[in-house]
Amino acid sequence: MHRACPLDDLPPGESLRLETDPPIAVFRTDDGEVFAIDDTCTHQDASLADGWLEGCEVECPLHASRFDLRTGEVDAPPAKRPVRTHRVEVVDGVVMVEESAEAPNLPPGLSR
Ligand code: FES
Repeated sequence: MHRACPLDDLPPGESLRLETDPPIAVFRTDDGEVFAIDDTCTHQDASLADGWLEGCEVECPLHASRFDLRTGEVDAPPAKRPVRTHRVEVVDGVVMVEESAEAPNLPPGLSR
C-alpha cells in the first residue's frame, strides 16, 4: 500500500501525483469519492493529475482523451488503451492506495 495523504489535504475537485514507479494519480471528485489511476496517459508522456477532472472522468492535458476513473477506460483517441485503476482505502483519515498487480499501459518509449 502507498500512503497518499490525509483525506483532508485532498479537497473535492483536486488531484495529486504519487512519485511511485510508474507514478499514480489520486483524484477526489466533487462528490467526495477518491480514485487512483496510473498518472501517465497511455498515448504520450502526460500527467493525468494535471488534467481536467469532471465528474468521474479526467481529461488528458495534452490531447483531451478522457479516462474513466472507475474503470480506466478511455473515451476517444488519440489515446486508445485504458489506464490501470488502483484500489483506494481511507484508513484513519489517510488515503491509502493499493497498486494494481497488472502491467501498466505506458505510452511508447516509456517503461518502468
Ligand atoms: S498524451 Fe494524453 S491524449 Fe495524448
